[in-house]
This record gives sequence, C-alpha cells and structure tokens, in this order.
Amino acid sequence: MIKSIEQEIQELKEQRNAVILAHYYEAGEIQDIADFTGDSLYLAQRGAESQADVILLAGVVFMGESVKILSPDKTVLVPDLKAGCSLVDSSPSKEYGEWKAANPNSVLISYINCSAEVKAVSDIICTSSNAEKIVNAVPEGKKILFGPDRNLGNFLSKKLNREMEMWNGSCEVHMQFHAKELYNLIQKNPDAVVLAHPECEPEVLQYADHVGSTSFILEQAKNSEAKKFIIATEDGIFHQIRKMRPDAELIQAPNAEGSCGCSQCPYMKLNTLEKIRDALLNLEPKIELDEDLRQRAHGSLDRMMKISRGESISFS
Ligand code: 13P
Ligand code: SF4
Repeated sequence: MIKSIEQEIQELKEQRNAVILAHYYEAGEIQDIADFTGDSLYLAQRGAESQADVILLAGVVFMGESVKILSPDKTVLVPDLKAGCSLVDSSPSKEYGEWKAANPNSVLISYINCSAEVKAVSDIICTSSNAEKIVNAVPEGKKILFGPDRNLGNFLSKKLNREMEMWNGSCEVHMQFHAKELYNLIQKNPDAVVLAHPECEPEVLQYADHVGSTSFILEQAKNSEAKKFIIATEDGIFHQIRKMRPDAELIQAPNAEGSCGCSQCPYMKLNTLEKIRDALLNLEPKIELDEDLRQRAHGSLDRMMKISRGESISFS
C-alpha cells in the first residue's frame, strides 16, 4: 500500500526520536503535521526543553540556530538552509558589532530574527511576544540600542515611552502593507477589528486596533466578539485563525501597489512536506555552529529565556 507523505513523516519521526516544531507562517499542511506550532518564543522554549534526539524546525534558519544555541547536543534539522530572513540580511555582524562597540555603556537588545554572530555581540535577545518585558527589565537611565527591526523598536519606544537608538533593518514582508490602502479598506469595513504585527511600518500600525506577535494576534481573534478581522501579517497565520474562528470573516491587509500582494514570506514558504521527510530520512540539512560562536551567542539568548521564565537578571 502506498503511504501518504504524512505517514512517512510520522514513521521517520518515531524512528529518529524526532520532534517537529513549526512556525505559524508555514503552509497549513506543515503546521498540521507538527508536534508544536507557535511563535518564535514558543518554538525556542519547546526546542530548549525537548527530550527528543532530533529537532526539525520548520521555520527559518535563525530559528533552528536558536534551538542549536540552547541545545548543542541535539541534532537540529531545517528543511532548507536557504530559508533566510531579510532582518538577518539587514544586520551584517561586522557593522552591528561596531555599533555596539561605539556605545560601550549601552544595552543592546536584538530581536531574535538575527544571525548567531549578531546574538554573540548582543546583551539580550527578545521576540515580539516578550519584547516589552525585556525592554522594561533594562534599568532606567541605561542607554538602549535596539535592532535589527526598526519598526518593532519604534513601536516599543513609543508604547513604553523609552528612548532607544535603532538599527535600520526591516522585514520585507511586513514592509509591504500599505497605510493608505488599509485606511480605505477600513472605511469599507468599519465593523472589522484590525490586527497587526509590530514589524509593520508605523503608518500602518496607527490604524491597528491591536498590535502584537503572531500568538498575540491569534489570541485577539480567538477572544474577540467581532465577526470580521483585517490582518496585517504573513498569510500562514490564517490557517490557525480559521480553525479558531470558523465563524469570522478574515481579510488580508492590502499591500503596496506593485508588490506580489501575497503577503507570503518567501523564506518560510521554501519549506515543504517533501523536504521535511527528506531531512528526517537523511538527517540533513542540519544546523552546525562553531562551538566558540555558539557559546558567545548563548549568553544573550539565555538571558531572554530567564526573563521569560520570570527570573531576574542584571545588566552591568
Ligand atoms: P513571531 O512569531 O514571534 O511574532 O515572529 C514573526 C516573524 O516574523 C518571524 O519571522
Ligand atoms: Fe524574516 Fe519577515 Fe520572513 Fe519573518 S516574515 S522570517 S521577519 S522576512
């Protein structure tokens, strides 16, 4: 009897003692075969506490690197090593390190969407779901550098009334949402609740009723009494929202004219069920980090994990 690809993956997972973690931006069929589906923080936490020998991260490479940094003895697989991120590309480690060196008494908070090299020069990491907590943990009076996503940084700075110096990086997917088009859409749908990810431009965020991480957006949609939502984030999130709110009308926020209009992350969407099966079969491609780099990157990521667990940390 011919096996389905889902069955093949299930069998390989058992043979390898593997666990599959998937981000909300993956295709629905990938989210459905995963053991855990979630946002960046949730995936890092599940990876760190997993007892499996093999962790397959269906997301982008920096997510796999985070798991490897926290769990060096595990085999960490990704379906496609080309699954990068425009925020990683916009923060070359040499220039980023020079920025930190030019501000010796500052605290450098880096969004988890960055390379292991950037994590190694950072004081602490954050994700979009714990960023407020991380910023608030930095003593008043300490200068904060925030990178690589300037939109998340500006959103936090405004909301928390905290001055920060920003790195000029951005997400190529969230940058495509268009403020004027969104305004027009809201005029036509005054009953819709607008949910947006903080990687969007401030001009777009000004029209959002709620701004937060992918898991925050899901929570809002789940708990809201509204029947219509305009969503400004990557389209993979619709898969989970539809499951939670089959009664609701979901509208993708509009893109700038001339863009593909698909609101799909080209890196997240490199992953397929076939690549996941092959990765489990061949135990490749795997994340490999130089041990010295891994140890240097561990400190900033571990500080984030500690704050997320409610532990206190100090900034010298
Ligand atoms: P979160 O899932 O943490 O909100 O991150 C969004 C993102 O862009 C990941 O690449
Ligand atoms: Fe990077 Fe944007 Fe894709 Fe997230 S959605 S992985 S921030 S390019």
